[in-house]
Amino acid sequence: MSENRIRIHEVVTRDGFQMEPEFIPTERKIELIDRLSLTGLARIEVTSFVSPKAIPMLADAEAVMAGVARRPGTGMVALVANARGVERAIAARVDEVVLVVSVSESHNRANVRRSVAASFDGFREIVDLLRGTQIGVTGALATTFGCPFEGFQPLERVLRLVGEYAALGIRSVTLADTTGMGNPRQVRDMASAVRREYPEIEFALHFHNTRGMGLANVLAGIEAGVGRYESSLGGLGGCPYAPGASGNICTEDLVHMLHEMGCETGVDLSALLDASRLLASIVGHDLPGQVVKAGTSRDLHPMPTPAH
Ligand code: COA
Ligand code: ZN
Repeated sequence: MSENRIRIHEVVTRDGFQMEPEFIPTERKIELIDRLSLTGLARIEVTSFVSPKAIPMLADAEAVMAGVARRPGTGMVALVANARGVERAIAARVDEVVLVVSVSESHNRANVRRSVAASFDGFREIVDLLRGTQIGVTGALATTFGCPFEGFQPLERVLRLVGEYAALGIRSVTLADTTGMGNPRQVRDMASAVRREYPEIEFALHFHNTRGMGLANVLAGIEAGVGRYESSLGGLGGCPYAPGASGNICTEDLVHMLHEMGCETGVDLSALLDASRLLASIVGHDLPGQVVKAGTSRDLHPMPTPAH
């Protein structure tokens, strides 16, 4: 089975920004998010409501959420790790929260300082807090395709943890390749297996291009029938608790590839390329994205005059 309609979830202002060394002013974050929501992206992971000591870059989460324009069709999402974060997210009127736990114990301890079982215990309380609100919940599984401390994770463990989310009534699960270890066949096999086991759950895939396998992994996911992908404008990103976790897959490169393949995303590529240029000026350095440098496959060049 293969999907033709692909939804793009933008994560640059959360996953991308949390790796930047210099604090990005709140107004510039808002400016970028407002530009992104005009491009037709299905969902923007705006920020996270976590401890400002853990992620100082996102300490202004409330101010960012209060400042961004809300547009129908673009969900404003925030990552949370504990009940305190969910209370903050509810007060900030997010459309959806993303819970995060790692498939591997050691990455979970490094990221949120607790065991995987303790994370799920906390999620029960979170789901209770969200009951009666209109706020959606996605469960993310970090290190699904490999952990920098423990290596590749068994399929059975991934299936069991998807099952833990399902048992909480969660119907949207993101499998994340936090440090870009996954390869396309592994992605195809894993994505097919989880979809077979949990047909009621809508899956998204989150890839990093750390080892150059990111877009190939998207294709493998599409072939396994997954229709939602997380990516970061310009390819900015990483994880502060995962050594070498540079660069999410690049949103504009992903959208370009999908459009060339005849897939629909609902995203305006040229507006996205403009947003990528704005991002480069905000962070003040070059970004890994390629289409913004090379132009699209449809931008033709004048033929050079032959030399005499
Ligand atoms: N919002 C704001 N502050 C929070 C918070 C939240 N959601 N959760 C905890 N804090 C504060 C506490 O008030 C405490 O502050 P204090 O030292 O001034 O008293 C401090 O953070 C530590 O709190 P504690 O409950 O002891 O947590 P911890 O030190 O065991 O850390 C987490 C656990 C989950 C709070 C922390 O590791 C975290 O926020 N991790 C996020 C990681 C992340 O975002 N990773 C990238 C995405 S994958
Ligand atoms: Zn990531």
